[in-house]
Amino acid sequence: EKAHIGVTGLAVMGRNLARNFARHGHRVAVHNRRRERTDDLIEQFGGEGSFVPAYSLSELVDALERPRRLVVMVKAGRPTDDVLDELAPLLEEGDILVDAGNANFTDTRRREAALAERGLHFVGSGVSGGEEGALHGPSIMPGGSEAAYRELAPLLGDIAANVDGTPCVTHVGSDGAGHFVKMVHNGIEYSDMQLIAEAYDLLRHGLGRTPAAIAETFLDWNAGRLDSYLIEITAEVLGHTDSRTGKPFVDVVLDQAEQKGTGRWTVQSALELGTPVSGIAEAVFARSLSGHAELREAAQGLPGPGGSGVSSGEAERFTADVEQALYASKIVAYAQGFNQIQAGSAEYGWNIDLGAVAAIWRGGCIIRAEFLDRIRAAYAANPTLPTLLTDSGFQQALGEAQESWRRVVSTATSLGIPVPGFSTALAYYDALRAARLPAALVQGQRDFFGAHTYRRTDTDGVFHTEWAADRTEHEA
Ligand code: 6PG
Repeated sequence: EKAHIGVTGLAVMGRNLARNFARHGHRVAVHNRRRERTDDLIEQFGGEGSFVPAYSLSELVDALERPRRLVVMVKAGRPTDDVLDELAPLLEEGDILVDAGNANFTDTRRREAALAERGLHFVGSGVSGGEEGALHGPSIMPGGSEAAYRELAPLLGDIAANVDGTPCVTHVGSDGAGHFVKMVHNGIEYSDMQLIAEAYDLLRHGLGRTPAAIAETFLDWNAGRLDSYLIEITAEVLGHTDSRTGKPFVDVVLDQAEQKGTGRWTVQSALELGTPVSGIAEAVFARSLSGHAELREAAQGLPGPGGSGVSSGEAERFTADVEQALYASKIVAYAQGFNQIQAGSAEYGWNIDLGAVAAIWRGGCIIRAEFLDRIRAAYAANPTLPTLLTDSGFQQALGEAQESWRRVVSTATSLGIPVPGFSTALAYYDALRAARLPAALVQGQRDFFGAHTYRRTDTDGVFHTEWAADRTEHEA
């Protein structure tokens, strides 16, 4: 009997995806370049379902029913290309390759086009939820052709997370759409994590609370509108005591945040698309700033403000303010991310359904939260919503939050606590709602020094002022 699906690359994500398929009754052919991993999988988890070990790519290909469905779960970049190059000649027309790693969507577009020329389907698929998600139900964001999705949908639907009876998988759009959306997911993930970290920092250094006490606050918040996986694990991490020293875990971890690149890609793509994802950018930069040990060391002596933090009488209000600021900033972060998806969709012709993306992020993925259902509902009510900020529910929340949000940013500023995420979100909010922006002045400056021209509020056309001569305005 042939296998329904194959997986090559049995590091933890690949292994767990293979197990997840098998646990749902699918016969899974498994392959890894080093055979020990294949044997380990069979030895440890063979009892969970029906596995077919394969010790070469051609054995793997032979083990599969047609059209073949084969998940490639190797490192992004060169290793993926190498496996695809080796696999393509072994496959037949109509076979489907799924890249479930965190590939750059531009690579996915290139690979999809090259494999399509050989009659093969290539599905770049975002998979979120880490190791646990891969095993128990991730959120799955496949791109590629409709035809390939039809063949994959039943299997992916079985292994995906489930929210209210709906599997967290949808055909996002053609070619690289799936990996693009996964990339933005990660950008939002960075932003959300940064905002949570700033909230912690304010309670720690503005209020002088202990990590354990702050863990309690996050647990409280998790019972409300901020309910999410990231808030939940934040409480866990803050509540944890280091087993080696007995100190709060968060105090013994080196404060230099690392990154594997998806956040950076999100910002690079946003720069090209011209989409202001300032929250994601600040989150990426905050990580890189934290990693500049020498720079930080050199700056240790720079003067900061005096002052003793928030008084205990103000503690309750301040904590409530931070919750408001966190929620409002989170709305901005997601609004920016969804606008980037909208822009990418328009640029690459993907026709992405934003509500459907929000729906599959309700479960399985790292940013999973009840909040995503509110985003789904916002797009269901108005699919052409220009920004989530103007959805009536979010608009109301922002209106209720804004005074707290401003107090938090100004308190942080006067105490010298950096809140790049909160403050850029607030600046974005204020800039969007401003009737007039100083961009008019920037246009004037550009025209002054470079005759770069400007448009006017009172008439159409492109204008230039004779700055060096009589300073009259005329059409350029
Ligand atoms: C997910 C995550 C995952 C990502 C990690 C690490 O959705 O399951 O986004 O894909 O690899 O979050 O990312 P960084 O190392 O860049 O923080």
